[in-house]
Amino acid sequence: MKAHGHSLSLGVFGADDYDKSVAQRSTVLVVDFGAQYAQLIARRVREHHVYSEIVPHTITAAEVAAKNPTAIILSGGPKSVHIDGAPRLDPAVYDSGVPILGICYGAQLIAHQLGGEVARGTRGEYGRTQMARIIGSKSTLLTTDIPAEQDVWMSHFDAISQVPIGFIATASTPDAPIAVLENAERRIWGVQYHPEVVHTPHGAAVLKHFLHTLANCEPSWTMGSVIEEQIALVRAQVGKQRVICGLSGGVDSAVAAALVHRAIGSQLTCVYVDTGLMRKGESDQVVETFKRNMGIELIHVDSGAKFFDGLKGTTEPEAKRKIIGELFVRVFEQHTGGVTDAQFLVQGTLYPDVIESGGSDGTAAVIKSHHNVGGLPEDMTLKLIEPLRALFKDEVRRLGSELGLPDEIVWRQPFPGPGLGVRIIGEVTPEKVAILQEADAIVREEVRLAGLEREIWQAFAVLPDIRSVGVQGDERTYAYPIIIRAVTSDDAMTADWARLPYDLLERMSSRIINEVDGVNRVAYDITSKPPGTIEWE
Ligand code: XMP
Repeated sequence: MKAHGHSLSLGVFGADDYDKSVAQRSTVLVVDFGAQYAQLIARRVREHHVYSEIVPHTITAAEVAAKNPTAIILSGGPKSVHIDGAPRLDPAVYDSGVPILGICYGAQLIAHQLGGEVARGTRGEYGRTQMARIIGSKSTLLTTDIPAEQDVWMSHFDAISQVPIGFIATASTPDAPIAVLENAERRIWGVQYHPEVVHTPHGAAVLKHFLHTLANCEPSWTMGSVIEEQIALVRAQVGKQRVICGLSGGVDSAVAAALVHRAIGSQLTCVYVDTGLMRKGESDQVVETFKRNMGIELIHVDSGAKFFDGLKGTTEPEAKRKIIGELFVRVFEQHTGGVTDAQFLVQGTLYPDVIESGGSDGTAAVIKSHHNVGGLPEDMTLKLIEPLRALFKDEVRRLGSELGLPDEIVWRQPFPGPGLGVRIIGEVTPEKVAILQEADAIVREEVRLAGLEREIWQAFAVLPDIRSVGVQGDERTYAYPIIIRAVTSDDAMTADWARLPYDLLERMSSRIINEVDGVNRVAYDITSKPPGTIEWE
């Protein structure tokens, strides 16, 4: 790898080739009408083993045809079909013959664009509602094993009041006289409710019936198939060249590295920069897993002293992040300097990153800076390998397990690139890191012993920059408090503080005070996000 003296040139290999290799597979296009409804639908489709891709609502019929989809799902959205500039689907898509399922806004759009009617400003329905079949109607979407009356989850204001010619209405709710509309001949169906949410108990059955039976999608999307496909792609892409991967200790880079290693073995060199700000035992675990168990060539750079030196005297959160990021890049450069012939860099970019950066067509070359703490040198001339760019986080975890990574890595909580540096308020010192590592290990161990590890998004300890008075034995103490932070979340965009059982909190508290020197008080953070953030800095 040449790290100096070159201009930025990051070629993304993978997107086009990926598209080619998936051309034969059943693909469902989820048309995005806004407000992140599409991501959940796309995940649900994949849970039925059918590959799904999110596309913008501005997609043309020709672009749809080029993707050769097996089915199309129109997502919900926050707008009313009546307002100016409300998103529409290219009408020619309805005539393409590809089976279509409209959900919520998507169903209203079908009614609106094909000649039916959507009444505005009716009463609206939000939350759980009873839906009943319309007596005498013959549904092809709602199969006979779904009860005639069922709970569904609603979130709409307008309601379809008249179906287009050729359609029938097959179910209704108190405030949505046409909650399901169907045209089996044209293969277009619409549901006003949300089958993708867990609060609609028969929602999964309806989606499955649409995908597997009505649209004839092949249920061939499995993590086994992803592994095979990516192995072939990476081999074709890399040839005999060398590849570098920066391991952060997190799930994404670990799974990406394991996958690429499965494809090209010793052509891969991983670099793990130990900033001294890792969790207790984390570095040993990375080395153990990758070097000893998987036989991956690993450069382990133990550079804690450099980071502590650099952080000395700095207390401002953004300044701390910047120092850590810059040092990381420098250390990374130094230690990849020996791998002079590398042409490729592995990145653990996931599908949500691709979507959010507007690059779902695979053209955006995004470097997810926090994967590598502060971003990578701007003048590197490496091409990217992004074997996870089509996957959601839950799929990455399944893929990791299938590749033989241990649960401790696959089920690891998200951990910020700057590490414990942003969980120590104020100046970072080796002594404070040692205190925090011990306290944090107790919090995570107790969560695991309570069997809550997979329900909690993140649980960790924070060390504030204050001390308070306490009494231990007959002695007055003046020591640090530890703050426990535990949150539930789906995506870290919003989060709620976890309602941990009192006895669990008590065990954490007494263990931290008894086992960690320098701590005499424990507090629990009961702030949701927003208004708080998950991390403290
Ligand atoms: P906040 O604190 O913004 O965090 O609510 C949201 C999620 O992002 C993680 N986080 C980071 N991850 N580099 C990362 O890779 C970072 O600099 C960083 N800062 C926060 C945080 O742990 C949470 O999961």
